[in-house]
Amino acid sequence: MPAFWHWFVAAGTIVFTIWCIWLVGWSAKQGPANVADDDLVGHKWDGDLEEWNNPAPKWWLYLYFITIAWAVGYMIAFPSFGNYEGMLGWSQEGQYEAEMQAATETYEPIYEKFAAMDFMALTQNDEAQALGRSLFASYCTTCHGSDARGAPGYPNLTDDDWQWGSAEAEIFQTIYNGRMAAMPVLTPALGGDQGIDNMVRYVRSLSGGDANAGAMSAKPMFVALCSACHGVDGKGNKIFGAPNLTDDIWLYGGSAESVRETLVKGRNGVMPAHGELFGDNRTKILAAYVYSLSQN
Ligand code: HEC
Ligand code: HEC
Repeated sequence: MPAFWHWFVAAGTIVFTIWCIWLVGWSAKQGPANVADDDLVGHKWDGDLEEWNNPAPKWWLYLYFITIAWAVGYMIAFPSFGNYEGMLGWSQEGQYEAEMQAATETYEPIYEKFAAMDFMALTQNDEAQALGRSLFASYCTTCHGSDARGAPGYPNLTDDDWQWGSAEAEIFQTIYNGRMAAMPVLTPALGGDQGIDNMVRYVRSLSGGDANAGAMSAKPMFVALCSACHGVDGKGNKIFGAPNLTDDIWLYGGSAESVRETLVKGRNGVMPAHGELFGDNRTKILAAYVYSLSQN
């Protein structure tokens, strides 16, 4: 915090505290002696129930003094005055780091034990699976759903259909470094609305939709524009994260509208990187858990 703001905050805090003390002290002096017999506020209920302008009871005032004393003690002990660090030397970062350190010391040996195991053995180990399940519940369900079945744009992890590959190293990579998909907008090359419609039909025909003449006329375009990523047969390519278009499993939906939107707007799904958060060992445990989800 620059010096100016340090003094600005510190001065504001001091002035406000002094004002509180003065206000409570002033109220304390307004004892019953200062209340006139007819000192009514003027509110009247049920005909004869009236409100007097009496001072607050003493014990109530003492509560205020106690809170002010507490605040002053707090300000001396903890950082609350601009840049002043407080006598106890406490800081948010310090507490966070201490807690993380303690957690690492407790859990890392457990993670290490599992990380030394073979990947396939991990997918069968109940204890490792329980760990994976709880990591998944904490960090992954917001996007992939509590049942891991995903939602439009967020892949279902319980099927055995993998955009980025299902080998140990591939799942590890997906979780550790994240993935960024790039489905480019290629519609300008498709020859107008009719061309787009034909391509939508062709794509849907790959997974069993009607393949009429219009759809088939888009096939050469598919080979020219799309096969570099999706393959000539449309079965996808995990290197680019280009999905298999022939299996009727859809990331963004298989209706004509959804496929059209994919083509017209492009798609850029992002799986965030978790490596820094988890480290190698936990990533591996989680990868094994995710793999096992697809094997039931
Ligand atoms: C540069 C590589 C690349 C090219 C070229 C490409 N795609 Fe894609 N496509 C992708 C990727 C990557 C995704 C996944 C996007 C995501 O996960 O956000 C994708 C997704 C899709 C989807 C969505 C599938 C689903 O499950 O919802 C469709 C449909 C599609 N592409 C059709 C096409 C068509 C048709 C063409 C040619 C006009 C084409 N793509 C060209 C890389 C490509
Ligand atoms: C912010 C949302 C978000 C979070 C959090 C998230 N994911 Fe993802 N994940 C995605 C998206 C979006 C994709 C698809 C990326 C794409 O379009 O290619 C994805 C893809 C994946 C894939 C690839 C699936 C395949 O078919 O290859 C795996 C595996 C995965 N996530 C696992 C996880 C795990 C494990 C966690 C928890 C550590 C997690 N994800 C947390 C959004 C998220």
